[in-house]
Amino acid sequence: MSSKISLTRYLVEQQRQEGHIPSQLRLLLEVVARSCKSISHAVNKGALGGVLGTAETENIQGEIQKKLDIISNEVLIEANEWGGHLAAMASEEMEGIYLVPNRYPQGEYLLLFDPLDGSSNIDVNVSIGTIFSVLKKPEGQPGVTEEDFLQAGVKQVAAGYCIYGPQTTLVLTVGDGVAMFTLDREQGSFVLTQENLQIPPDTKEFAINMSNMRHWAPPIKRYVDECLAGKEGPRGKDFNMRWIASMVADVHRILTRGGIFMYPWDKREPDKPGKLRLLYEANPMGWIVEQAGGAITNGKDRVLDIQPSKLHERVSVILGSKNEVERVTRYHAEAG
Ligand code: AHG
Ligand code: MN
Ligand code: MN
Ligand code: MN
Repeated sequence: MSSKISLTRYLVEQQRQEGHIPSQLRLLLEVVARSCKSISHAVNKGALGGVLGTAETENIQGEIQKKLDIISNEVLIEANEWGGHLAAMASEEMEGIYLVPNRYPQGEYLLLFDPLDGSSNIDVNVSIGTIFSVLKKPEGQPGVTEEDFLQAGVKQVAAGYCIYGPQTTLVLTVGDGVAMFTLDREQGSFVLTQENLQIPPDTKEFAINMSNMRHWAPPIKRYVDECLAGKEGPRGKDFNMRWIASMVADVHRILTRGGIFMYPWDKREPDKPGKLRLLYEANPMGWIVEQAGGAITNGKDRVLDIQPSKLHERVSVILGSKNEVERVTRYHAEAG
């Protein structure tokens, strides 16, 4: 790339040329990116900033919160509440929705986020991230309710994530392909480093937490068994395995070189559809993956078509290279 294109310029040009980013959405994305920048700084300080370790509190998901889960949640709220672009926010770390206080102007968007994804990797210095999804507040009534957030993934108007790894990278879609921006620490701005990302349809790499194997449903077991059988098995090729335990990092790898990621339903908690959250994790990541030519299902249906029935709804996730996701989905259909 000859001249550097900042995120700001990219968004301005999207607004001008494509006409599908209204200025309020442009501001929103700028503010989210700014929040990610400050979370990135906090992450980088680590022990020196006193941000490691647990906070001794539990979130609505029943997880012990890490200090950085709470810090990141606060950074996103404080940065976004006053700009006039939002009506309300929802987060993995908050039980109910967060209404923009009355003292600020109300905008037309709803922001949903997983402020810190991959919490178990914070203290061990492995890549973590922030995932976000943007919806439009339904028209017609003045206030905002939890119901307004219960929109299928296809209704998203923007989605993205920021990964805090060896580099801090922001990945974004507004429904016109996927773009990647790398944080230039000297300039303090995100710079466009790749456009129109594409996930190859085939792969030889799968990602799943193998320690749960004994709890899986038969179609998942069948798929992984066939991968493990390698060249001698029905797939006729050797597969490699990766599991980072940060969805952002696993999805980032898949966007970079292909692969399949699965966090399926399992027998440990038969009444729960899965571990990952539909609104904060599966939908935004799913839209990014689809925009890059990949696919996402829950084993049966396209995840983005699921009508959510509650804010913290969970879902089984199979995403990545299209042909592999279709294969796993077919195995589910064949199992009946
Ligand atoms: P979070 O840290 O936001 O709660 O999400 C963690 C998720 C996801 O990032 C990852 O893929 C998965 O949990 C890892 O789960 P296991 O520890 O069960 O492998
Ligand atoms: Mn969590
Ligand atoms: Mn997460
Ligand atoms: Mn989280």
